[in-house]
Amino acid sequence: MKSLFIVGNWKSNKTIQETRQWLSEAHAESSQFKDHLSDMTVIICGAATVLGTLKQSMAEFQLPFSVGAQNVSMFDDGAYTGEVSARMLSEVVQWVIVGHSERRVHQQEADDQLSKKAQKAKEAGLRVIYCVPDAITMVPDAVDVIAYEPTWAIGTGKADTPENANEVCAQIKSRHNVPVLYGGSVTDENVASFVGKTHIDGVLAGGVSLDFAKFLRLLRAAAL
Ligand code: PGA
Repeated sequence: MKSLFIVGNWKSNKTIQETRQWLSEAHAESSQFKDHLSDMTVIICGAATVLGTLKQSMAEFQLPFSVGAQNVSMFDDGAYTGEVSARMLSEVVQWVIVGHSERRVHQQEADDQLSKKAQKAKEAGLRVIYCVPDAITMVPDAVDVIAYEPTWAIGTGKADTPENANEVCAQIKSRHNVPVLYGGSVTDENVASFVGKTHIDGVLAGGVSLDFAKFLRLLRAAAL
């Protein structure tokens, strides 16, 4: 069986209290999934305010999940009000999402800025999950994972077909020798049809990752 990546993207959701609740549910259920995730890298990407809580509790509860951020500054430490540098993030996370389409749209993040972000993340030792909406969008060198997420499929309940997603992931892979994920309205019901495809190495899941019971169903369905 191929090794899979399951990335939960919480987006701008969850207070510290809500994060603790999710983690305590994961802790309570952990005997049910711990042994089944040996071929999976599961990464939970929270908002900046909950990353410390995620890191601490993952260790305390010995959960087999890594922690990721959803954004990183394109600058080093310094006079950049509101930014969180890669060096600062590297204290709490191993991974960072760069180039999510919501940031491309709402923060007008463009390819050159996203390349700088990926570069800063790599310099700080972070691993980068780089999101693209199609097979032709530029991907900087040295990213670790690429996620194909068609904009129209994100949060709409209308996922791409596994066949088309597989084809786009194959095109991306022909140019970049890294795992490629599919994202956009992934659920516990459709995840197996995506990860069963040759060129899809996992999924990036938004909505379904917010509720631990649903996320656990997704992990189980992906592992089968
Ligand atoms: P969704 O989000 O699973 O809620 O469609 C996916 C994403 O934006 O990463």
